[in-house]
Amino acid sequence: MDTRITLGRSGLSVSPICYGSWQLSPRFWGAGPEEEFIAAMRRAVEVGITFFDTADAYGDGLSETVMGKALQGMRDRVVIATKAYHHFFPDGRRYPDLSGAYLIEACEASLRRLRTDYLDLYQCHAFDPITPLEETAAALERLKEQGKIRAYGVSNFSAAQLRLARQYGDFATIQPDYDLLNTHIEADLLPYCRAENIGVLVYSPLHRGLLTGKYTGAETFSDLRKNNPDFQGERFTDLAARVAGLRPLAERHSCSIVQLVLAATLMHTAVHVAIVGIKTAEQIEDAAGAMRVMLSREEYYTVRRALQQTYGMGFPFV
Ligand SMILES: NC(=O)c1ccc[n+]([C@@H]2O[C@H](COP(=O)([O-])OP(=O)(O)OC[C@H]3O[C@@H](n4cnc5c(N)ncnc54)[C@H](OP(=O)(O)O)[C@@H]3O)[C@@H](O)[C@H]2O)c1
Repeated sequence: MDTRITLGRSGLSVSPICYGSWQLSPRFWGAGPEEEFIAAMRRAVEVGITFFDTADAYGDGLSETVMGKALQGMRDRVVIATKAYHHFFPDGRRYPDLSGAYLIEACEASLRRLRTDYLDLYQCHAFDPITPLEETAAALERLKEQGKIRAYGVSNFSAAQLRLARQYGDFATIQPDYDLLNTHIEADLLPYCRAENIGVLVYSPLHRGLLTGKYTGAETFSDLRKNNPDFQGERFTDLAARVAGLRPLAERHSCSIVQLVLAATLMHTAVHVAIVGIKTAEQIEDAAGAMRVMLSREEYYTVRRALQQTYGMGFPFV
């Protein structure tokens, strides 16, 4: 069954589950064996995942390098998205930079690490307040004309920043954070994207692993989660219990909680793709299974209610 969808106005044909590779950043996620990541990326293609997300900043080039190795010989079967923004140096220095000159240089470096002569999607990783967007857009248009990128977009921009960017170039996609515990972009960014047919690839759809159902709330972490309040104390225990409460519904669909949550995430009419952070072949196999799960309207709102936070005066939203 072909589950590919069109990523909004970019026209790219992609799987709605995307392989996220930030996990190849030892600084944030701890070090893992490279072979395990390579096996996971190759398994992804076997189970129907054709969309891969990386960034030059992930592990200061490590993520792109490993992805380039893993996907060698499969270039025509996969769609690769990467990002630029962090101007980084071998001694560890880095600063934001969306200047035209840097984007041209960064794109060449990404192409080399990814062992390819074109990128399907090139994304500005975040907003750079001191580079005029017309300069950024002109560089991206030049890369497109040269055939080095097929489409370009942004990440971590607000609706107002994206609207402004679109005055200067066809920024066709956005990569925001969004999951069923963190739905703030439903208020303005997602409606704008839907109206403009912007391709929306959401990141951290499993709330950094919390929405997998594998935690009780008693676990401790040595990676980036050690400083995240959602993974500490009573709050962690409460959230873990709410997620565990989704198990009966998942069982009715003969699916995992991961698959249930991802399927629900993809039901928002403005969300095209969920980028899942992956460390192992088992994790991507599990995520890929979400592409077969169909929930009813009532089931969707059952999931939303289970994970509901209270807003403002405490009136429930769903
Ligand atoms: N544009 C941006 O600024 C930005 C920011 C963040 C992320 N991203 C992109 O989005 C991707 C995903 O975001 P994320 O990594 O922050 O969060 P996420 O996808 O919500 O969570 C990733 C974590 O979920 C766990 N996991 C994944 N599949 C699982 C499964 N089947 N069973 C059990 N656990 C599973 C893994 O935890 P364990 O570590 O416990 O194995 C993994 O590290 C990143 O890899 C990156 O490509 C982009």
